[in-house]
Amino acid sequence: MSCIHSGRIQAFISVIALSVMAGIAFSALGLRRKRRNERILAKLPSNLEAWRRPNTIDSDDETIWKDADDILREAGLIQWPYMGEEIGSSQGIPVNTCHSQNGYSYVTPCRDVATKGPGTRHSLGRFMYLNPLKRAARTTQGTDVIVRVMAIRNHGRPQLNILRKLATGPQILLSNNHTLPILQEIHFEYISFATFPKVGESMLDVYGRIWPRNSVGDVLDMITQALEDAFSDNFLVQWHPESLRTMEVSVSKPRVFLIDFEVATSFEADCPKNERLCTGCPMGSSLIQSETYARPRIPEMNSNEPYDPFKLDVWQLGTAIEPIDNILDAMKALDSAVRLDANDVLAKLTSAIHHMPPLSLLIPFEMLEDPMDF
Ligand SMILES: *[C@@H]1O[C@H](CO)[C@@H](O)[C@H](O)[C@H]1NC(C)=O
Repeated sequence: MSCIHSGRIQAFISVIALSVMAGIAFSALGLRRKRRNERILAKLPSNLEAWRRPNTIDSDDETIWKDADDILREAGLIQWPYMGEEIGSSQGIPVNTCHSQNGYSYVTPCRDVATKGPGTRHSLGRFMYLNPLKRAARTTQGTDVIVRVMAIRNHGRPQLNILRKLATGPQILLSNNHTLPILQEIHFEYISFATFPKVGESMLDVYGRIWPRNSVGDVLDMITQALEDAFSDNFLVQWHPESLRTMEVSVSKPRVFLIDFEVATSFEADCPKNERLCTGCPMGSSLIQSETYARPRIPEMNSNEPYDPFKLDVWQLGTAIEPIDNILDAMKALDSAVRLDANDVLAKLTSAIHHMPPLSLLIPFEMLEDPMDF
């Protein structure tokens, strides 16, 4: 009896000893991890503003994201390599890797033959940015995404919550929902990141003042999609159809996405006006194809001075199709204060468009203003 009893006691003692040892090992690991996290945090900017504008010698775009690399790797993300600043800060697709199809970026067959320039595979393999809040990366599954730092401590939390609501609810599956989805949230201590699909092109230059040779039909298709959701100037599009290059009505139509963060040459709503600046062509002036020079351009684009892209008042263009122009005129009044009108405009615009043969929209936009007036 006593033998069994002491055996039990021994087993009991060893269980306790084992758990104490495991406990010590576990807390040592926890402590080590905590110290490591503190080391990473100490290197990273302590607020979003400092992340947006790193301006000390030992904290530039590159350093910040290098310091954040372990966080991203643990989340299965490999950053695209930094390409330097020769044509604005940019990253390039990892060398010796193929482009991957994420369902959000396409090249028109008419641009496929060109090796360089806007709208080509080459340009899709570049990610240009104006500030380092976001970063192009590839997931371990091989999909290209944009990582954005969303919140540091409380800063940015309300916006992240709004975005979560807009980009993850059940209505995200509706065919008329154009919000770009959040793919993944990454939380590291008090810093939150989110990843989004990398989308083909910005809609900032949808009228082709710089490069895309979109027809009136192409543009109206994109504008009406934009009107289906919130009205915003922050839209991306899978590709620019450029029907004017082929003079055929394109069969495949690109989908438009609403974003709340900056990609390439688009800007956040909270971005200070004096920071909403571009220089030359968004893809870098060296890449502009000579044929696009023949097209109307504002003087700022030709000088290499930074310009405010919103001065390119998108509604100062006409189609020479009276019913459509009347509606576009009415859209000029569209701002956040009268946002409800977007539904009316959408109904009128689609009704006008649907009564017209697609070929009649295979025409360029007309500039209503003398470009020299800008
Ligand atoms: C899109 O989906 C989000 C998330 O469910 C929702 O909040 C938003 O209102 C939807 N927009 C439209 C136009 O359906």
